[in-house]
Amino acid sequence: MLELIKKRRSIRKYTADPISESQIKALLEAAMAAPSADDARPWEIIVVRRADLREELSRVHPWAAMCRSAPVVFVILGDPRRSAHWIEDCSALTENLLLAVTGLDLGAVWVAVYPQSTDEERVRRLLGVPDHLRVLCLVPVGHPAETKPAHTKFDERKVHYETF
Ligand SMILES: Cc1cc2nc3c(=O)[nH]c(=O)nc-3n(C[C@H](O)[C@H](O)[C@H](O)COP(=O)(O)O)c2cc1C
Repeated sequence: MLELIKKRRSIRKYTADPISESQIKALLEAAMAAPSADDARPWEIIVVRRADLREELSRVHPWAAMCRSAPVVFVILGDPRRSAHWIEDCSALTENLLLAVTGLDLGAVWVAVYPQSTDEERVRRLLGVPDHLRVLCLVPVGHPAETKPAHTKFDERKVHYETF
């Protein structure tokens, strides 16, 4: 597990190989195993495989282009009515998803939507997201067409023992 965490990198290039239904199910299960305040689980996930929708998602902003070539994009939604901690909970879910992707030897990257309200509105209109839900991020997933070394980013200067 410790090696897997260090192995996770943002992968932005994918082969044309598809992601299977069983892989999608495994990723969803891992994602939803995330911790959640009061166990409220204020998340919803849209699984986007349609090429026309992925093309539109890739245009949400200049750093979302990977949605075009990834065979599947997970759209992470949160419900502020169900929890004041929706951002933390959905972020934990997203990290679980990214780690599970790494564990299946797939590649993915966190693509921000929140807090840009114009980007959020584009995704909302495109995918018919109900008004009460917020769009946290997009996670394009595919078979990696690039490799990156594992890293830890460990920085001892950021660690403070007992008091700051
Ligand atoms: C909240 C958040 C938003 C991000 N948004 C984007 C994005 O819109 N597009 C992108 O290509 N990468 C995005 N990233 C990925 C970061 O650029 C990446 O994690 C960082 O460069 C470190 O690289 P690593 O993930 O390989 O460790 C985002 C990451 C986080 C946590």
